[in-house]
Amino acid sequence: MATREFIVRMNDTTTSPNFSLNNLTGVGRLDLACRAVSSALFLSHSIRKNSKIYVNLNGPPSPPVTILFDAKNLKRVYPDERNIASHIRIALKKFDKKEIFTETEPGIFIAKKSFEELIKEKNKKADIYYLSKDGKDIRKFKFNLEKDLCFILGDHKGIPKKTEKFLDELGIKKISVGEIEYLASQVITIVHYELDRRLASR
Ligand SMILES: C[S@@+](CC[C@H](N)C(=O)[O-])C[C@H]1O[C@@H](n2cnc3c(N)ncnc32)[C@H](O)[C@@H]1O
Repeated sequence: MATREFIVRMNDTTTSPNFSLNNLTGVGRLDLACRAVSSALFLSHSIRKNSKIYVNLNGPPSPPVTILFDAKNLKRVYPDERNIASHIRIALKKFDKKEIFTETEPGIFIAKKSFEELIKEKNKKADIYYLSKDGKDIRKFKFNLEKDLCFILGDHKGIPKKTEKFLDELGIKKISVGEIEYLASQVITIVHYELDRRLASR
């Protein structure tokens, strides 16, 4: 089965492991990132083995850092925010500052990699889309369901204008799930739902 990948660009989320699980909102909205991971990977009582999510952190003290959760090999990761945040904390603690992804726990990888570098790498392998309220309606979109699909999302502040320009210059198409502005985690659920329905009706 083709892979579904998500990339969430977090503007201000901490790149230090020194945070409390009781204060995820106060470290650049890590709670949002954790909810996105949960929506990307989990179903009721099971995990989407063909899903991956990259959380790109751009907060202090040493951005950028990208953490990958690959559902295929995850162990002891659960859908709740605190559990996911605890694995992000372990990844940041074990981080060796390398530019290539290093596995810190089964299915969890970390790298000193910017959003732009990640997108350029992905663009060679997968069909990439930028989720934006102003994009083309997802229901009018024909996806190649045999290919790996990769979806980019912003956090509560959205994707900065200059980063949007970078995506546009790469020819990355914008798609919308409707005129309402949803949370990134909700958009991920909608994308999965739309793709699940298309697969089911083939
Ligand atoms: C809470 S929204 C960001 C709101 C922010 N004020 C902005 O202007 O982008 C988080 C992310 O979810 C995605 N998103 C939200 N609503 C969407 C929609 N209707 N269609 C597609 N993507 C959407 C976008 O990627 C957005 O960056």
